[in-house]
Amino acid sequence: MTTVIDGRRVAASVIEAVTAASAALQSDTGIRTGLAVVIVGNDPASHAYVSAKSRMAKQCGFHSVQHTLPEATTQEELQALVADLNADPAIHGILVQLPLPRHLKAEPVIQSILPDKDVDGLHVVNAGKLATGDLEGGLVSCTPAGAMVFVRDTHGADLSGLNAVVIGRSNLFGKPMSALLLAANATVTTAHSRTKDLAAVCRNADILVAAVGRAEMVKADWVKPGATVIDVGINRIDAPEKGEGKSRLVGDVAFEDCAKVAGVITPVPGGVGPMTIAMLMANTVIAAHRKAGRKAPRF
Ligand code: GUN
Repeated sequence: MTTVIDGRRVAASVIEAVTAASAALQSDTGIRTGLAVVIVGNDPASHAYVSAKSRMAKQCGFHSVQHTLPEATTQEELQALVADLNADPAIHGILVQLPLPRHLKAEPVIQSILPDKDVDGLHVVNAGKLATGDLEGGLVSCTPAGAMVFVRDTHGADLSGLNAVVIGRSNLFGKPMSALLLAANATVTTAHSRTKDLAAVCRNADILVAAVGRAEMVKADWVKPGATVIDVGINRIDAPEKGEGKSRLVGDVAFEDCAKVAGVITPVPGGVGPMTIAMLMANTVIAAHRKAGRKAPRF
């Protein structure tokens, strides 16, 4: 029997633990965990994600601030806001929603966030800590951290002897995911668009993680029987069967067919997606604990 992971249920339990940790920090020290989310421009999908993040921060009892900047914001204005948030003692986490409008450069903005407040885990200091296997000192990118919770729930903390294949090599997901799997002793292959015979590489995976951004690209014959399949893709496709002009969300994995072969699989929606927000809250309460000089909780 294939297990379909319920990401909403796992995310809810993380949120419960985060809420308890932030309440304990506040009652013990008077410090309220603070998260600032910054969005530039009018992309509707980004606005939906950011609203969900701000709402969840409030639900966790955080001091939650959203900065909504116009499309015409300059690089200097955006970086001045980040500098203010870096200096604000009420803010423990800063997230600048990506992608930014085309006229803005993301990299200098990300690198100007204080590493201690970089709850996206994108600053080179945090990426470097992860790359050197220091999982305790830095902050880990939220989506890979969330995917790793599923891997740990399925296989335990030690992945010795298991082959893991990550399809995708982005800084936001593929590279940190591979680093996390490696730190847990898996034998890791980072595959991408230039990989030769991707299907054959994937068939070798005990743990297959897809983050390519192409709807239902991973087919059933790419999956090793009994493998754990984690689908990080969120693709909107036409769904004429639901009515004219309707659409639906699918992942990078052809779910129905792959579920017949996999041992464990995540659905889209309701898999990795809810974990991204939950781990953002987790990173923020971890950052607040560190700032208060307290041992940070683990999630
Ligand atoms: N856009 C899509 N996912 C993310 C994320 O995890 N962090 C940021 N900052 N932007 C995103």
